[in-house]
Amino acid sequence: MLNMRKIYWPAINVLGPGALKEAILEAKKLNLGKALIVTDKVLYENGIVKQVTDELDNQNMVYEIYTDVNQNPTTFNVHNGLRAYKENNCNYIISLGGGSPQDTGKAIGILVTNGGNIVDYDGAFKSKNKSVPIVAINTTAGTASEVTINYVITDENRKLKMVMVDPNSLATIAVNDPQLMIKKPASLTAATGMDALTHAIEAYVTKGAYELSDTLALEAIKLIGESLDDAVKNGENLEARSKMAWGSYIAGLSFSNCGLGIVHSLAHQLGAEYDIPHGVANAILLSDVMEYNLSSNYEKFSKIAEALGRNIENKTTEEKAMEAVFAVRELARTVGIPKLSETKFKVEDIKKLAKQAHEDICAGGNPREASVEDLMEIYSKVYHR
Ligand SMILES: [Fe+2]
Repeated sequence: MLNMRKIYWPAINVLGPGALKEAILEAKKLNLGKALIVTDKVLYENGIVKQVTDELDNQNMVYEIYTDVNQNPTTFNVHNGLRAYKENNCNYIISLGGGSPQDTGKAIGILVTNGGNIVDYDGAFKSKNKSVPIVAINTTAGTASEVTINYVITDENRKLKMVMVDPNSLATIAVNDPQLMIKKPASLTAATGMDALTHAIEAYVTKGAYELSDTLALEAIKLIGESLDDAVKNGENLEARSKMAWGSYIAGLSFSNCGLGIVHSLAHQLGAEYDIPHGVANAILLSDVMEYNLSSNYEKFSKIAEALGRNIENKTTEEKAMEAVFAVRELARTVGIPKLSETKFKVEDIKKLAKQAHEDICAGGNPREASVEDLMEIYSKVYHR
């Protein structure tokens, strides 16, 4: 018998080349009023914001632009954005960018309808009211924040990442147009792509995985495995970009409805403490965490190896599973992910970081129960690799 499931999914999803134009037409039908475009300075300067405002202008839709969003967005970014929203009498949000503007947009949307300070919403299911409508235009294949119920904001005072799990923050329209992604630099494509792969792999083996999340996650692993290297090496390859956009999107649908694991718990601390980009942090940790988790489900890790195109003939299930670890380790190296020892990471911080990672909300989904000592050992192993 099938178990009862509650699945969160944006109401309208527009994907593929040309999705931006189509999504703006969908937004116009909703007659939402004035938008606050939440984005960042890079996207403003490289013309992506203009591509969106041109479409809005064509439809006589009104907006203000807010660009004060950091790489790891902060409580400060959120509250400044809230002020901009109120001062300009906005009615809804267009979040434009990768995970950082998306997460900031969600946080602003929750504060508009719920009030208070963003730190009040740290944790799961903390808000009462649905956010104002959000049109989430994604520009990286990536965090998938445009389709998930999660968002992450750095609390500067406590120097930690607050992970919010909140269906009230879900976007109304999710947009993935690979044409907005073709100009992304190789290093960003690599980092965000490895984040998407981490979502797919963690979702596939998480404690909360079930039939639908498994189907989506495994397909995402396959799509990302087939296309990430191409998207990194030839950013103008629209087919590789499209596959990455699809892979990232369906990985997001999967993990948003089943959970993640300790790759994310450990990575969040690296972002908050040293401002290491989220995708880089995940990519650095992923293969070693997979190795740590192997014994929880050799079968599933074998399927990951197969989805990543490894030759697993004439191998035991344990050996097949280990191929998944090798595949991810090689991919991270091929796309140019640095080593942990090449970042600002300090080995003397390991105990503090491991304790915080143990408290991180994503740790609950990990297929193996990881103690603080286990987490310390993983950081140490990765650092010495
Ligand atoms: Fe992530």
